[in-house]
Amino acid sequence: MLLAAGLVLWLFLMFRALRPAMRGAGRSELAALFLYSAAAIPIFYLPALFYGPDTNFAVIDNWRFWIIHLWVEGFFELFATVLVATMFHQMGLVSVTTATRVVYVDAILYLGAGIIGTGHHWYFTGQGTLNIGLASAFSAMEVVPLTLLTLDAWDFVRIKDRSCADCGKRLAGGQTWAIYFLMAVGFWNFVGAGIFGFLINLPIVSYFEVGTLLTANHGHAAMFGVFGVLALAVLVFCLRAMQTDRAWEDTVRFVRVGFWGLNAGLALMVVTDLFPGGVLQLWDSLNHGYWHARRLTNLTSGIFHVLEWVRIFADSVFLALGVVPILIAALRTLGTRGVALGDRLL
Ligand code: HEM
Ligand SMILES: [Fe+2]
Repeated sequence: MLLAAGLVLWLFLMFRALRPAMRGAGRSELAALFLYSAAAIPIFYLPALFYGPDTNFAVIDNWRFWIIHLWVEGFFELFATVLVATMFHQMGLVSVTTATRVVYVDAILYLGAGIIGTGHHWYFTGQGTLNIGLASAFSAMEVVPLTLLTLDAWDFVRIKDRSCADCGKRLAGGQTWAIYFLMAVGFWNFVGAGIFGFLINLPIVSYFEVGTLLTANHGHAAMFGVFGVLALAVLVFCLRAMQTDRAWEDTVRFVRVGFWGLNAGLALMVVTDLFPGGVLQLWDSLNHGYWHARRLTNLTSGIFHVLEWVRIFADSVFLALGVVPILIAALRTLGTRGVALGDRLL
């Protein structure tokens, strides 16, 4: 309930900040799209309040995946696209027409595939074969916009170093690290959501796999890789805009370590435990049955269990070399605020 209230407050803050831009000429459509996509975030989170501990399981699962699927794979992806388009427009890298067109194309692709695709979480909640057929086909198409996003990430590599024809200055205005974070979003979108999501998406795979470590493997790589890293891209974008050039010279060192620490930590979690552990569990499910693969004794013994201990190393890299430096970089803003880039960017 607190989160729902927080999201509604956040929407009000967005509305207050975007209202002047929506009235202004030229950029009003992009600003309005930003607000609409932001409104979908609290609206599609609210179904979390529609069930309680006594609700029927099939009903709970129905609403649960409004949040897990429609929220993250549909409207949050759309919001992320509008956010990135707006950031690139603010940096002067793309025209408002291009940014707006990209948003419309993405809206058609994400929502077209993602809304019916929600049913890939309802294969086994008693919804019948029509759901299996439609949901598996449409959710498979979700990989198309994700691949396009990855191609975008390659473009970011070029955009990062582009300079303006007259002044020779780099257009990204010192926002190199925000762009690196966006490139990482593209990478994890492809690996975490595209590959690992698709891997467990077919009904025949899901039948043996549902709710095993391969789900956690996909959940971690997609959820943190895409939305966690995206939030950090915005954080770094704002930190750069708020700090003077002098202060940023020091801050950027923490951002650099944090970037590699977080990405390497997440990759290590996947490589050392989540993926191999998931494959082991799936193998067990195929050979001995699903009940066996999810038995407590099976989860707390053998190689499966050893891999979980190995994961401590990956988690430590994530925390010590990822979370801590980024936290320091954020806290440094307290004493070093300036208007260095603020005028240009905000
Ligand atoms: C950034 C986008 C995505 C995010 C953040 C995301 C996140 C998640 C999370 C957290 C879960 C676990 C839900 C739970 O059991 O409580 C999940 C499950 C699942 N995801 Fe995704 N996902 C994304 C994209 C995709 C895509 C593109 C596909 C397939 C094409 C996909 C297929 C699945 C399937 C089939 C499950 C169910 C697995 C199971 O219940 O065992 N996901 N996703
Ligand atoms: Fe989904």
